[in-house]
Amino acid sequence: MVENMLSCCAIFPESLVTMTLTNKKIVLGISGGIAAYKCPELVRRLKDQGADVRVVMTNGAKEFITPLTLQAVSGNNVFDSLLDPAAEAAMGHIELAKWADLIIIAPATANTIAAINAGLAGDLLTTLCLATAAPIAIVPAMNQQMYSAAITQQNIASLSQRGLHIWGPGSGEQACGDVGKGRMLEAAEIVTLTGDLLMPIHPSFKILITAGPTREAIDPVRYISNHSSGKMGYAIAQAAQLLGGEVTLISGPVSLATPNNTHRIDVTSAQEMHQQTLALAQQHDIFIACAAVADYRPSEVSGQKIKKSSDEMVITMIKNPDILADVAALTQQRPFCVGFAAETQDVEKYARGKLRNKKLDLIAANNVSVAGQGFNSDDNALTLYWDKGQQELPLANKQLLAKQLVLEILKHYNKQH
Ligand code: C5P
Repeated sequence: MVENMLSCCAIFPESLVTMTLTNKKIVLGISGGIAAYKCPELVRRLKDQGADVRVVMTNGAKEFITPLTLQAVSGNNVFDSLLDPAAEAAMGHIELAKWADLIIIAPATANTIAAINAGLAGDLLTTLCLATAAPIAIVPAMNQQMYSAAITQQNIASLSQRGLHIWGPGSGEQACGDVGKGRMLEAAEIVTLTGDLLMPIHPSFKILITAGPTREAIDPVRYISNHSSGKMGYAIAQAAQLLGGEVTLISGPVSLATPNNTHRIDVTSAQEMHQQTLALAQQHDIFIACAAVADYRPSEVSGQKIKKSSDEMVITMIKNPDILADVAALTQQRPFCVGFAAETQDVEKYARGKLRNKKLDLIAANNVSVAGQGFNSDDNALTLYWDKGQQELPLANKQLLAKQLVLEILKHYNKQH
């Protein structure tokens, strides 16, 4: 019933690409669940994006994390009582409710969700929800059985119908040992959804992306290829179109669905990818080379299946064209060029070498020797390098990471134009 409530329509204006939440006033309401331990990071990340954050805690929340910790990370006094004269004198609860551009309740326990749905105002957090005109985002976190209980589902559906935003929950292993739906979203995901909610529309841009592996034929039945799944390139295509981009995806052979509103062109070999990309590059503002293009191809492709006639087989390979370098070398209508560098050592040295040699505007590097990230994985972490700087995009699922990457690319692209 409450599936698909996770907002995915994120569109950002030019000026806000750097700090997506500049001057936004956010009340973070923390209720009493184990996921409260994620809140200091959430506060820090919201502040990193320029938000001013005031924390409100329920009594239950204080059993999991101290107000002092949240006071330190937010840089503001923590509000935890409806009836504290000193706190009311500093900023009364009605004032706080009016101050907020957004109230995020994370973690939102089954009890807090039920109380808000019932319109109770027994503590500061629920009172704020009644007293505010600001949007409210509920980030559920609870045991999977409690989450799937009919009454919880009803409460969440009812809040959603009344216009509250429901973010998550995620699935997976829970603190209690159960496995299922009920995990609080990660801080980075919440920050992204906050940006989605508070930001207006980015002007349109045209983006060309290569993705997946290439296959280099040896004979009619055999080829040389690599382990690229295409997931990162496809995630970038999806993020770019959600951010308002017009997307062309030139894809090697992968088993992935085409992202919505994406013009997909299927190719097999590096040469085909090269030809299609060069034909289209000048019609795009941004080019992201995400494909794992085979560096070499067999110099000759046998017309017939090669027979097992000897104990050894020697294949002579010749170099494929470098698609990215050729696009970056265009002298007219050259798009903003972004490359990827998958490295196993000296990541910065090799990435910066590629940035220079291929004359790129930006390169996204990842260390593929780290388990659980990069090739064929659902998660990835990237470091972006450009001429005069660098930036980390920490480990996240490829969808979220892709969105952060596209936002960073837009920021750099906008600076140039
Ligand atoms: O030189 P290397 O293959 O490590 O460079 C990786 C970057 O260059 C990636 O962005 C990849 O998509 C791109 N590339 C390309 N054409 C090639 C080889 C790599 O576009 N033939």
